Amino acid sequence: MSFDKPVRRIAIVGTGVIGASWSAYYLARGFDVVATDPAPNAEANLRKYVDNAWPLLTRTGLSERASRDRLTFTTDMVRALDGADLVQENGPERPDFKMKLFAELDAATPVDSIIASSSSGITPSVMQTNCAHPERVLVGHPFNPPHVIPLVEVVGGAKTSAEAVRRAMAFYSSIGKKAIHLKKELPGHVANRLQSALYREVLYLIEQGVLSVEDADAAVSYGPGPRWGVMGPSLQWHLGGGQGGIKHFIEHLLPPMVQSWKVLGTPTVTPELQRTLTEGVMREAAGRPVDQLAEEENETIVELFRVRAQQEGRPQRA
Ligand SMILES: NC(=O)c1ccc[n+]([C@@H]2O[C@H](COP(=O)([O-])OP(=O)(O)OC[C@H]3O[C@@H](n4cnc5c(N)ncnc54)[C@H](O)[C@@H]3O)[C@@H](O)[C@H]2O)c1
Repeated sequence: MSFDKPVRRIAIVGTGVIGASWSAYYLARGFDVVATDPAPNAEANLRKYVDNAWPLLTRTGLSERASRDRLTFTTDMVRALDGADLVQENGPERPDFKMKLFAELDAATPVDSIIASSSSGITPSVMQTNCAHPERVLVGHPFNPPHVIPLVEVVGGAKTSAEAVRRAMAFYSSIGKKAIHLKKELPGHVANRLQSALYREVLYLIEQGVLSVEDADAAVSYGPGPRWGVMGPSLQWHLGGGQGGIKHFIEHLLPPMVQSWKVLGTPTVTPELQRTLTEGVMREAAGRPVDQLAEEENETIVELFRVRAQQEGRPQRA
């Protein structure tokens, strides 16, 4: 089966936190978006989210056909899937729920259309279990919020065709996302495992009384964080090795780092640690509601990506 037909119409299944943000992004890239969600007020909440995101998306550059008028909403999922060239699924994160939902999506979506799940951790092999056409089922996991953060992790399951994975990678790349291909599926994919690995040590240092919550956040966001954001964790060691580059790093700096892995910790998440974390975060938030914090973060990230795109001589896209 070839999945090379042009994508014009995208079905968004589930319009919560992630589905709403995907909707805004796909509209900004000029697609017809048909969204579906059974929750009461889902349409009003979705339209409000898109309206709020639109000024930022406009600043980062709308595609030629971009319009909020291209958004339609229906509570009838089968209608939403009819004629969809691509499905982006964003339903609740429960394996049993996804397995059932994917069987329904599979039955109602054209067989030459890709069905991508935003799932943060469920593997595609699980989701495609009950599908008659599992070859087009894969994970296209965004990083929150997809209308701001470029990363999409593409993962195929045991029954996904290489052609579908290739097409999904090409599609996401063509609309300005930074798509990476995971050659093996594993719970949590990759980006969340990386977050988790770092956060285990962050919580350990807080638990041990080494750092306050505020200083732990500063240690990441004013130290390695910006460097990771520009180069990632491996290329930056080429710089860490000085004139000797990565070879010098491997010979001289990697061995003590490997030794230090033995003393990394695993915290026990007690009620006391939860309280310490909550109090620290509330001090940092300083009365700002979550929506305001998200807006402040999005504005700053968009500016950082604008500078980065300028440096690299290419147009900015989330
Ligand atoms: N929140 C995150 O940071 C994040 C990041 C990346 C990926 N994800 C993934 O995205 C998916 C959605 O997560 P979320 O945070 O947006 O959750 P959410 O709870 O905000 O949204 C889920 C939506 O699915 C809807 N829904 C329930 N049953 C449905 C059905 N049968 N058909 C269609 N919609 C249905 C709900 O009404 C709700 O609006 C999950 O798989 C999650 O792992 C979440």
